[in-house]
Amino acid sequence: MAASAVPRTQPRTGEAVADDKRVVVLVSGHGSNLQALLDMAAEPGSGMAVVLVAADRPDAFGLERARRAGVDTAVVRTADHPDRPSFDLALRDLVAAARPDVVCLAGFMRILGPGFVRAFPGRILNTHPSLLPAFRGAHAVREALAYGVKVTGCTVHLVDEEVDHGPVLFQAPVPVEPGDDEGRLHERIKAEEHRLLPLAVRLLAEGRVRVEGRRARIADPEEVAR
Ligand code: GRF
Repeated sequence: MAASAVPRTQPRTGEAVADDKRVVVLVSGHGSNLQALLDMAAEPGSGMAVVLVAADRPDAFGLERARRAGVDTAVVRTADHPDRPSFDLALRDLVAAARPDVVCLAGFMRILGPGFVRAFPGRILNTHPSLLPAFRGAHAVREALAYGVKVTGCTVHLVDEEVDHGPVLFQAPVPVEPGDDEGRLHERIKAEEHRLLPLAVRLLAEGRVRVEGRRARIADPEEVAR
């Protein structure tokens, strides 16, 4: 099934069993990457559970995807907080209460400050629709097209205190085709994100991501067992 489709009978993933790795997902919009994570968690024996989906806006379609999957949802709006640090701390407290092994930003369009990031060291993942460090920021696909690049892509990376900056786990190239517009190109980039983001979440949850400086590498299962 395409990750962007909403299944009619999504198995419940919101009920984590004791040993499941716990994933909290933050969204702002359509939630096709969230759907890829829900589909991964719903696979028999996945050992993964999406335990909370939180959004910064109540109309994020990702919330509906979560509800259909039986996953708890929450909305934390910047407008309900006097400043950015208090928004960060409210979101931090909400996410921490869900006891996540991994926090995944899946199209979450707010910059998270140190009050949030420092609470989950090495446990926050983001996906970005360009080959970082090219085209950071909220309009990466539009800017890649405007620049005239022949190849763009996606980057799945750990989150640090700088925007679109932390150590890279995975990248995938996506060629720009003649006649592409932003929507068409973004859909092909998302297809790569739907493949790589669940994989990265699983590897991080299993303790298989090792970070040395800017470099992130995937450890063998035997190395993790030692
Ligand atoms: C993704 O391309 C992600 O990289 C970017 O926003 C998009 C979110 O798509 N930050 P969706 O909401 O998961 O469909």
